Amino acid sequence: MKTQQAPYQAHLFVCTKTRGDQRKSCGDGDNPDLKTILKDEVKQRGWKSAVRVSEASCLGVCDAGPNIMIYPQKIWLSGVTRADVPKILELVGSLVSESA
Ligand code: FES
Repeated sequence: MKTQQAPYQAHLFVCTKTRGDQRKSCGDGDNPDLKTILKDEVKQRGWKSAVRVSEASCLGVCDAGPNIMIYPQKIWLSGVTRADVPKILELVGSLVSESA
């Protein structure tokens, strides 16, 4: 095993876990689209080499979801909806420019 620096300035982990109707999950409704929307926006902005959007399974705070965590900044976003996408991109843009 080798240890290396993170290859991205910001890495978004979007929880898309679904459990059917068993209990609240981040992937309920159309929330899985958040990952696709964010991924497309990152690509359109030319941030692909600096920002990664990944699908994550349960992050352990389901009742607060949908949840997105951003590393290495240790920022957790909860109760995220599609309407929050512009704010998320503004935040990510500031993180990328801060570390540039
Ligand atoms: S289902 Fe997303 S945090 Fe648990």
